[in-house]
Amino acid sequence: MDLLEHQAQELFAKHGVPVSRNHVATTPDEAYAAAAEIGGRVVVKAQVKTGGRGKAGGVRLADGPDAACEVAAAILGMDIKGHTVHKVLVTEASEIVDEYYASFLLDRSNRAFLALVSAEGGVDIERVAAEKADALVRLQVDPAGGLDRDSALRLAADAGLPEDLHGDVAEILLRLWDVFRKEDATLVEINPLARLADGTVRALDGKVTLDDSARFRQPGHSQFVDVSATDPLEVRAAEKHLNYVKLDGEVGVIGNGAGLVMSTLDVVAYAGEQYGGVKPANFLDIGGGASAEVMANGLEIILGDPDVRSVLVNVFGGITACDAVANGIVRAVELLTSRGETISKPLVVRLDGNNAAEGRRILAEAALDGVRTEDTMDGAARLAAELAGKGA
Ligand SMILES: Nc1ncnc2c1ncn2[C@@H]1O[C@H](COP(=O)(O)OP(=O)(O)O)[C@@H](O)[C@H]1O
Ligand SMILES: [Mg+2]
Repeated sequence: MDLLEHQAQELFAKHGVPVSRNHVATTPDEAYAAAAEIGGRVVVKAQVKTGGRGKAGGVRLADGPDAACEVAAAILGMDIKGHTVHKVLVTEASEIVDEYYASFLLDRSNRAFLALVSAEGGVDIERVAAEKADALVRLQVDPAGGLDRDSALRLAADAGLPEDLHGDVAEILLRLWDVFRKEDATLVEINPLARLADGTVRALDGKVTLDDSARFRQPGHSQFVDVSATDPLEVRAAEKHLNYVKLDGEVGVIGNGAGLVMSTLDVVAYAGEQYGGVKPANFLDIGGGASAEVMANGLEIILGDPDVRSVLVNVFGGITACDAVANGIVRAVELLTSRGETISKPLVVRLDGNNAAEGRRILAEAALDGVRTEDTMDGAARLAAELAGKGA
């Protein structure tokens, strides 16, 4: 999960990386109030998950509250590389003497952590990295041993930072390392790490990527999840503990087990070639137990996707036998009907495995409106693709 700058700054502050005073604002009036509180000149910064905000006009100086209000009005709603600005950070303006760069990242290819430091930070760091590779000092950091003070000092020296700053920068690197390890990040970056006119060094921008696999031991990180940016159906599916992934085609796919669902996606895409390039619209794995409740929740989510034109339910009965799954589908349809949801799109069901014949019999007997069965996966995929076909 990538964080916004203000969230990164919050984690920096928590671990003692020096940052500027700041407030988040979502309206020009809030930006006015934030600037009034901070006092003096401020910088108003677009909060979007992409770099190069400065060059895009998303980082602007304001002389006081009135100017901050005006600048925020211009930045809010701006589009920066496809990201709409919904929030700005109002922060005290610093008098910058020099801009450096510092980061830690997970170096997957070398199975190690890497520290990167440069005396040439700022908005052109990508160019520095590409054209002057030796201006970017690298050090592998042992995951078990961590970063020690001597290595931090050596990084500052090797990067060619002014000698009087080595101690301060080493201290900041140690604290940034704490952010990286203690917050389970895969990237922490300060650019610019700025030397200010008063002689201090401070993080004026922050970028943090958190390791989602460590979320279970970082309960505090759930506050950083931007629910508004996630597909609402994915949010609802997650609340119901269903594995749902939105794709961009027309056939809704429900199956049990990730392997079966993935191969179903392939078969649907293959069958869809004959029907004007029909593709899977989504992916929903109901897992091992296909109870009526789980099936109803799954169907509700799949049918709630406006792109879905037909639904393929592909279940291989195992411990949960096909008769139970068939009963689940029958009751799911009843449940949805009683909730006032209409099964507005055709459903193709393929049952195989444990007790398949009984499952098919149950569905045939129930003769549900709009529900059809097919005996094979290929046949079911073909029918679902045909029903979703352009012009069908
Ligand atoms: N608080 C600040 N005071 C003064 N200048 C700033 C401040 N924050 C950013 N800047 C200037 O704006 C540039 C771009 O801002 P930054 O936060 O790094 O955004 P981005 O990296 O997305 O362009 C910085 O390199 C710095 O020169
Ligand atoms: Mg920056």
